[in-house]
Amino acid sequence: MNYQLENKGSLACVGIGMTLGAHITPITKAHIRESDICFVMASDALVELWVEQMHHNVVSLQPYYASNKSRKKTYKEMVDAVLQEVRAGKKVCGIFYGHPGVFAYVPHKLISKARLEGFKAIMEAGISAEDTLIADLGIDPGKFGCQQYEASQFMFYKRIIDPSAYLILWQIGVAGDLTYGVEVTGAKYRQILLELLYINYPKNHSVILYEAATIAIKGIRAENIALQDLVGADIKDYTTLVIPPARNMQRNKEVIQEITALSIECC
Ligand SMILES: C[S@@+](CC[C@H](N)C(=O)[O-])C[C@H]1O[C@@H](n2cnc3c(N)ncnc32)[C@H](O)[C@@H]1O
Repeated sequence: MNYQLENKGSLACVGIGMTLGAHITPITKAHIRESDICFVMASDALVELWVEQMHHNVVSLQPYYASNKSRKKTYKEMVDAVLQEVRAGKKVCGIFYGHPGVFAYVPHKLISKARLEGFKAIMEAGISAEDTLIADLGIDPGKFGCQQYEASQFMFYKRIIDPSAYLILWQIGVAGDLTYGVEVTGAKYRQILLELLYINYPKNHSVILYEAATIAIKGIRAENIALQDLVGADIKDYTTLVIPPARNMQRNKEVIQEITALSIECC
């Protein structure tokens, strides 16, 4: 059904960055200001309060999360709630912490569904945890290359890891949860993750537990631990695991020879 024939609803999914007040862009502010209704998914209750000051009609998506409830169900309910307003002809703004397109199911689903139903739907980039991580830890993803996985997906599927590049695991707090719940999983789950990582990394390999500053005065967490200590580490649902390279990159001599031969041929 093409709902747009009946009304003029539209959707903008915007990112407000990681740190309260510090990362919001002018275009995101404009989308918030010009919308009829805003839905917010913030990293922190204080961030939600700040967003509420920017618009008179802000609905929190936080209450959709619950213990013993699959995040898959939660996400479907969030998508339905937001699209209901778009279908009612409103200008809707979905406000998400970080970047709305980075390791975030709901904004992508919202935009694809809205477009399929004939509505105008756009995404505005924000500063993600990846961006602050690069700045805070002084990592250039281009130096050795960088692989990124959602931790549970990394466990549930067979992946080919290059230990000469960085490896970033997102949602390490809920790693291995087959029920897609919200509670942080415990040591036994992390032990299984470790067995997978030990295929490529030594047990004493130094890794980083990273937490960006959601409020400037709180500061960041950049804690170096040995990989094997991940089991007992204090991990939150907002912790990201960074595994630096454990091996040197191997030069591909055959390809280099082939290319060298090309340049000799040319001259
Ligand atoms: C569903 S993803 C959302 C990511 C978000 N869209 C972004 O742009 O950063 C949630 C994961 O992001 C990472 N994350 C969220 N908040 C963070 C923070 N304050 N510091 C570091 N990583 C964070 C964690 O890996 C967390 O499990």
